[in-house]
Amino acid sequence: MTPFATQHVIEITYLVAAVLFILALKWLSAPATARRGVWAGELGMALAVAGTLLHHGIVEYKWVVIALVIGSIIGVPLGFVHMTAVPQRTALSHAFGAFCVTLVGTAEFYLRAPNVPHFMMAVLSLEVILGALTFTGSLMAAGKLQEVLPQRPITYKGQNFVNLSLLGISILVAIYLVLHPGQKQLFPVIVGIPLIFGVMMIVPIGGADMPTVISLLNSYAGLSAAAMGFVLDSKLLIIAGALDGSSGFILSVIMSKAMNRSFSNVLFGAFGQVQTSAAAAQEARTVRSATAEEAATILAAANAVVIVPGYGMAVAQAQHKVRELFDALTKRGVDVKFGIHAVAGRMPGHMNVLLAEADIPYDRLLDMDAVNPEFPQTDVALVIGANDVTNPAAKTDQASPIYGMPILEVDKARTVMVIKRSLNPGFAGIDNPLYYLDKTLMLFGDARAFVGDIVRELAGGGH
Ligand code: TAP
Repeated sequence: MTPFATQHVIEITYLVAAVLFILALKWLSAPATARRGVWAGELGMALAVAGTLLHHGIVEYKWVVIALVIGSIIGVPLGFVHMTAVPQRTALSHAFGAFCVTLVGTAEFYLRAPNVPHFMMAVLSLEVILGALTFTGSLMAAGKLQEVLPQRPITYKGQNFVNLSLLGISILVAIYLVLHPGQKQLFPVIVGIPLIFGVMMIVPIGGADMPTVISLLNSYAGLSAAAMGFVLDSKLLIIAGALDGSSGFILSVIMSKAMNRSFSNVLFGAFGQVQTSAAAAQEARTVRSATAEEAATILAAANAVVIVPGYGMAVAQAQHKVRELFDALTKRGVDVKFGIHAVAGRMPGHMNVLLAEADIPYDRLLDMDAVNPEFPQTDVALVIGANDVTNPAAKTDQASPIYGMPILEVDKARTVMVIKRSLNPGFAGIDNPLYYLDKTLMLFGDARAFVGDIVRELAGGGH
């Protein structure tokens, strides 16, 4: 092929890849089309890599092959991590992407300096600043989620001032470099300080807030890739980076809204630091508990049941048992639906993914706005390992840290049954008044074991 023809093939490949990326995001937004979305994204990425391999700028393929081998050795095992480890796996991917962006930006600067036009220097600075802070920030986030680093927020006086000053210094040096790109010795400053800033930015954020932070870092990684697209004159990178940046940002907004928290509260609020004394609150009141046999009897007598899964279902990996329960009740003519809160679990779509894995029909999954009007007509709301997303204090207790967070109104159902191991609080570290209502029965135990027991009782012909 002539270089001209090759260039055409590359452009067309990139165009198809860009369209596939857009379709992937569109399809990923609904459970029924999500698999197709993943395939579209993968095909798009394969085409983007193939197109790039045809690039005339590649002098020899030896290094490309070595990089592909190293990347595959690291990447393939990452594809097989446990479902509950997906957030930290995602954080690692962002870290690798951002590291790559920072290296490319650094190489481009030293190749071009001192002849770097102002616009080029501006996007290059944006690329390396965002890339470097995303690299260390994502590593920290992954470490906190994997619990190799302390989860609790670490704060000290003047922390926000120190952090913002670090960012401010990098931006000022970047502006100076835009005006004087010949000052090569200053370049390490706009890489080094953001590397430190990435660490400092994550230190005061609690481990459980990491999913929101990761999706924000995702959007930074996307923006830095888009900036790299300008530097390398690659339209595909600009499109892919912009898609990544905006979708990550939108996701962070959705998550923050579902928790009724602002970005600044997530980033600077040190959430999870002050745990209210839930144990003390529990002492004064009593709860009613029931056995699997009693729970099975109540469920079998119901006409309408709404199951509300939460983080505990994920921890217990109870989704397959939940599917068995769904089948057993449906077979008896009980109308079973699932109420899904946007931030149930610890990552976006956590419950949808688990329930899809267990082949629960998509039309049985209702989001909060759809399911809340159904609770008053529901005989049993069965809460499985969910806590905060069902806490009525979010509506009534102005002093509560989750006040204002929209919740699944399970307390409006005729009977509430809650499967969890103890009266311990969930992520927000607060007591849940739901457990002390007259209509509530606590089913104490591990979610998988307890649901399994209920299924056995139902099969035993209790009804
Ligand atoms: P949580 O409020 O965290 O409650 C989970 C409950 O599961 C705990 O109270 C725990 O009680 C129980 N549990 C743990 N292991 C269990 C097991 N093996 N068997 C049975 N129960 C078990 O969960 P949620 O209601 O899903 O709410 C999610 C929280 O995470 C919200 O506060 C949300 O704001 C936050 N958050 C979510 C996200 C996303 S994107 N999903 C992101 C950041 C923060 P026991 O210890 O008594 O068993």
